Amino acid sequence: MEKGFVLRERWKLLNKIGQGGFGEIFRALDLETEEKVAIKLEKVDANKRALRLEVAVLQKMQSSRFSAKFLHCGRTSDYNYVVMELLGRNIAELRKLQPENKFTLATTVRLAQEMISGIEDVHETGYLHRDIKPSNFTLRRHKKSKNKNENQSSHCCIIDFGLARRYRYSNGKIRPPREEVGFRGTARYASINSHDGKELSRRDDLWSLFYLMVEFLRGGLPWQRLKDKDQISEVKKMYTNPDICSDFPEQFTKFYQHLDSLEYEDKPNYDYLRKLLNDICIDCGFDENTKYDWEIYEESQKILKTSLSSFKVITSAPALSGTTNDWSRTGSRKVVKGLHNEFLGDIEKMNDLFLAEFDDLNPKNEKEKNEKPKERKNEKNKNKNKKKNSKMSKDEETETNEYDKMMKMMKMAEKSETTTTTKGWKKKFCCTIL
Ligand SMILES: Nc1ncnc2c1ncn2[C@@H]1O[C@H](COP(=O)(O)OP(=O)(O)OP(=O)(O)O)[C@@H](O)[C@H]1O
Ligand SMILES: [Mg+2]
Repeated sequence: MEKGFVLRERWKLLNKIGQGGFGEIFRALDLETEEKVAIKLEKVDANKRALRLEVAVLQKMQSSRFSAKFLHCGRTSDYNYVVMELLGRNIAELRKLQPENKFTLATTVRLAQEMISGIEDVHETGYLHRDIKPSNFTLRRHKKSKNKNENQSSHCCIIDFGLARRYRYSNGKIRPPREEVGFRGTARYASINSHDGKELSRRDDLWSLFYLMVEFLRGGLPWQRLKDKDQISEVKKMYTNPDICSDFPEQFTKFYQHLDSLEYEDKPNYDYLRKLLNDICIDCGFDENTKYDWEIYEESQKILKTSLSSFKVITSAPALSGTTNDWSRTGSRKVVKGLHNEFLGDIEKMNDLFLAEFDDLNPKNEKEKNEKPKERKNEKNKNKNKKKNSKMSKDEETETNEYDKMMKMMKMAEKSETTTTTKGWKKKFCCTIL
């Protein structure tokens, strides 16, 4: 399906926001209501049809505040489709914005409490999710919705019911497990039961959540580089004791132990699991006012923009003028390189994104490497000339003064700011606030 296409003369596809194993997801404009929506499409002739099931579960989830709103579903000659509320970015994307792909403890435990509730609500419909992973959770677009129940609307939603499976009958009786079951889900987050070909149950969705939390806190999982399911399973089995979370708050061990105690038919104690995470919040003083990592990140982006313009003021000398954006585009690279050489240590500490803007300043960069000998030579000559011509032109003098002033300020900024911040990237970022 192409962007610009108008589905059923009503929904104009704006851009693709997801491409999964089962279909494509588009951001679209509802021409009737003028609201933005999300549309998931599945080819009618697709080998595996998941959309019907997805719609069934999504409809059952409508009373949950952890679900996207269902709007429409239907079928054209080529596609099955479901139209739903447009949500925000998924948690996998947000994690990638963080230094070392890690979330803080505050973000992890607060997010995980909502995730447990989302999973519990899916289980309440009589289905298992069977594909719990960060990209199957998204934020809502607007924190405060216009509707009356705004306080009721959650921050984080659970999506993608394409792999869901009924685990109990409508009379509440648990379906008996099948003898052997093909692998379902995503290997990185799959429970060991899933690797072992066992029928999954409610505990397995929570095992996936447990791995997801470990990944958030560590920035990765011990098996994340492995592609082969069997190898992943082998490594996972090496962590079949709470060692995997021994350096986390003790509640993680209790979380692990609770999951470990559950049999196939058992209902997990969702309240207990949420309480464990909430206890961490109490111990550490996190509350609803504690900002999520991506909120701090967004704020940092705003400050970064401001700080870039303050660069302009500080660096009024001709060779240093212009915003840092201009530096990479125009002829001020020499100065920036000078900066880089002198303040390599500091600059290396800077926010990745900041560095990304200065990619050509990174000495590991091939382009830079090639240019280095020449540059060093120039610098040597420059130093020689400095010694020879101790008398500087006025312009040069101003430039040097400005340059020294800036260096001083950089050092001061680093000293004053880094001591007051704790998070890695914040510290790095503060070095950029000049
Ligand atoms: N309602 C929505 N609003 C905003 N984004 C969405 C919505 N539904 C899905 N997405 C985005 O599209 C991505 C893929 O969607 P989804 O997981 O439903 O598809 P999938 O085909 O089952 O994918 P996969 O097989 O990778 O899990 C999500 O990770 C999310 O970023
Ligand atoms: Mg998905």
